[in-house]
Amino acid sequence: MPDMNGEPTHGPTDETGPETASETGPETGAAGNADTPGHRLTAGLTIGSRVVVRYRLEEGQGAAATDFVGELVARNTDFLIVDTRTERVKLIRADVLAAKDVPPPASRAGRPHERVSADDLEKLMAKGWQAVDRSGLGDWVLRASGGFTGRANSALVVGDPSLPLDRAIDFTEKWYADRDRPAIFQVHGETGFEPAEQPTVAALLERGYVVGGGHESWQRVLVMTGPSAGVPPLTGQSSPVTADAQLQLDWLTAYAEQRPVVPGATEAVLTGSEGQLFLSVRDPATNAIIGLARLAIHPGWAGIFGLWVHPGHRRTGVATTIVSAAAMVARENNMPAMYIQVSGDNQAGVAFWDDLGFTVHHEYTYVARASA
Ligand SMILES: CC(C)(COP(=O)(O)OP(=O)(O)OC[C@H]1O[C@@H](n2cnc3c(N)ncnc32)[C@H](O)[C@@H]1OP(=O)(O)O)[C@@H](O)C(=O)NCCC(=O)NCCS
Repeated sequence: MPDMNGEPTHGPTDETGPETASETGPETGAAGNADTPGHRLTAGLTIGSRVVVRYRLEEGQGAAATDFVGELVARNTDFLIVDTRTERVKLIRADVLAAKDVPPPASRAGRPHERVSADDLEKLMAKGWQAVDRSGLGDWVLRASGGFTGRANSALVVGDPSLPLDRAIDFTEKWYADRDRPAIFQVHGETGFEPAEQPTVAALLERGYVVGGGHESWQRVLVMTGPSAGVPPLTGQSSPVTADAQLQLDWLTAYAEQRPVVPGATEAVLTGSEGQLFLSVRDPATNAIIGLARLAIHPGWAGIFGLWVHPGHRRTGVATTIVSAAAMVARENNMPAMYIQVSGDNQAGVAFWDDLGFTVHHEYTYVARASA
């Protein structure tokens, strides 16, 4: 039986929240009453997430309460500001009867792991690997983390940057130059998409950028999704899996042995999501960690990052055991959908996820100057 000694946790959320792309900035109201039911109910909501809020109506409005569904863009001690599909609403916390984060909306028919749009999944995955420094540019998210990973050091190109394209690129280049980092753009499309056909990529190519930025593994990254219910369960023969809500030194040491890390930034990114679990399997003979992964926890979704098995222990089912444990956590915590990101040139990685029934949801590429 697995040794699951950790619980998925949702960390405390700042009142002001992160600088997400859509955030308008929190309002500064009169000092509120932190003990109102509404305040307690909304304490765990994440700015930038999709939320549902059950809200008390005044007498004479025909019903006792109504639901608002939309993106939480700001909050303070008195109010929540929610962008619904039709309007921006300001909700008094004292009149909030219930509230929670909910998964991104369905954009098409299918099972939970299939029906999300690529834009929404990209935004969700960015929260599963939260950059240390981030700013919104319209819907785009500019991210920097001391150079630790492409995902946490690139501009996430989604939706509308709120400026004409050339000015948005100028702004992004300056944002990175101010941080002494190269500008890198993460651009996604349908499976097999031709990057140069996208206006953002075409504009970048004209400026001398290249698709992949000179890195083979950046050319084409597959976003694969699958149902947590489709992953085989752990069996009596499975190796014990430890799942820890805290980042432990031996997990970090094993992680750092197989990939470049940036002290400080690495720990911040690994622990920066609303909820995460650090999974590992040990060699019973030496007690050394021989396989690990990080599970990012979202409403309705679980994401796997950094799955790795020591070369001396591959093809013995270690990774399958880790993913089985992750899927068990997902199923038990109402997360029917799972995502992973794997470089298209990683044949073993793609074969592994394929074998577990994951399918390609969409792809992305990094566009950067070759010197990046
Ligand atoms: C990919 C990786 C995690 C697989 O770990 P593993 O413990 O060897 O995987 P498993 O033993 O559980 O393999 C389960 C199945 O996946 C498939 N698979 C795994 N490695 C494969 C490979 N190199 N080639 C083809 N298929 C492979 C097979 O179907 C395998 O079943 P089988 O051994 O009965 O044929 C491991 O190779 C690794 O750490 N690679 C480097 C890091 C990495 O690429 N991580 C994945 C990024 S998302």
